[in-house]
Amino acid sequence: KGPSTVRVSVIGTGYLGAVHAVGMAELGHSVVGIDVDEDKVAALSDGRAPIYEPGLDELLKKHAETGLLRFSTDYAEAADAEVHFICVGTPQRADGLAADMTFVDLAVDALAPHLAGACLVVGKSTVPVGTAQRLANRLTKLAPASSDVELAWNPEFLREGFAVQDTLRPDRLVFGVTTSDAEVTLRELYADVITAGSPVVVTDLPTAELVKVSANAFLATKISFINAISEICEVASADVTKLADALGHDVRIGRKYLNAGLGFGGGCLPKDIRAFMARAGELGASHALTFLAEVDAINLRRRERVAEIARDMIGGQLVGRRVAVLGAAFKPDSDDVRDSPALNVAGRLHLQGAHVAVYDPKGMDNAKKIFPTLEYAPSAMDACRRADVILHLTEWTEFRELDPARVAAVVNDRNLIDARNCLDAEAWRAAGWTYRGLGRP
Ligand code: UGA
Repeated sequence: KGPSTVRVSVIGTGYLGAVHAVGMAELGHSVVGIDVDEDKVAALSDGRAPIYEPGLDELLKKHAETGLLRFSTDYAEAADAEVHFICVGTPQRADGLAADMTFVDLAVDALAPHLAGACLVVGKSTVPVGTAQRLANRLTKLAPASSDVELAWNPEFLREGFAVQDTLRPDRLVFGVTTSDAEVTLRELYADVITAGSPVVVTDLPTAELVKVSANAFLATKISFINAISEICEVASADVTKLADALGHDVRIGRKYLNAGLGFGGGCLPKDIRAFMARAGELGASHALTFLAEVDAINLRRRERVAEIARDMIGGQLVGRRVAVLGAAFKPDSDDVRDSPALNVAGRLHLQGAHVAVYDPKGMDNAKKIFPTLEYAPSAMDACRRADVILHLTEWTEFRELDPARVAAVVNDRNLIDARNCLDAEAWRAAGWTYRGLGRP
């Protein structure tokens, strides 16, 4: 154990936990990742991440060798850690909009009896505000009387596809604490990140919890804002991409997250805005967040609209027609298909009678589990073969590199919907395609 090495446990080794465990090891700490899923633990121990994330496998292997990182299904292995991070999932509940807190509660209950001496339990999961205080009370009740446990909240802002980079060089660190001891411990843990320039914002517990959901609510709102404007552009024959460029030059607005198209999906933004609304309701303040219902509705409307455009483009009838869908993951550089707009559109067209062939560089295995009835093609070209219309739904670099003339040679009809507004419209049109963007003439 080096002078600045902290013994850390990471509870939950899904997306967030696996990346965080690797990040902590990369910062020089001695880490044990705990998960109840034996297969996941076996894969991670073997240097294989449970998800596709650039750079993650390499770091898993690196720190299996440095000896700083190991995984176990046994909570007892976490007993000697000085800091315990709670990184389990908080999915949307099956019976409503609220977050399902089962995994967080189970993790805390399982960890508590193993806590020893002075230690800090740090929540990272995205939770309804008030959870941290509730967990602090629960830990006080369940931890051995001999231990001295404190709770802090340190929300995570990483994006899939950039997770390692976002963990090691985040835009900011948020430390929700109740004592200065907890702040000192967190500063020690993240010393290299802070030295490298990431600012630290120290808050109380509820503020830290709220920063996370507010950030995601803001991002979702920004995307739905531009998609709403895109609907107006469509009826006014204006171009939403040019409009967004012009808006983006205003530094108060900024160009990022202003890409109109098929809208947001994934395991975070959609469920987080819904859980936020549900929590506001529980706190008697639902009126404050009614606009998020509109943000959600605008977003879901995109999927319907793209399916509608596809149908219209091939003459209003989908039965027996062939549709090529490029993209299944909810965004590029990810194999995650949770609440994927691309798969949603593919499913809609399939249900309306079209033959849908899907290709995605990384998301196919996960997509097959959700939608086994679609055809999954081994390449983009194969998906496009004999298609009446091609839908570009997830903006992988690979799709931008397709040669319009080569694709033209294999399709039945040259119809292209670029639902991410990022293909070279001129090049496709020059090759004889009817190119259709969203919110553009
Ligand atoms: C999001 C946040 O960006 C992270 O900061 C946060 O930590 C994370 O959720 C989380 O809560 O764990 P992520 O879900 O990985 O990250 O994906 P984003 O890159 O934010 O994209 C979300 C969705 O918005 C994607 O479907 C993407 O295609 C869409 N999007 C994004 C747009 O439609 N337009 C844009 O301009 C940007």
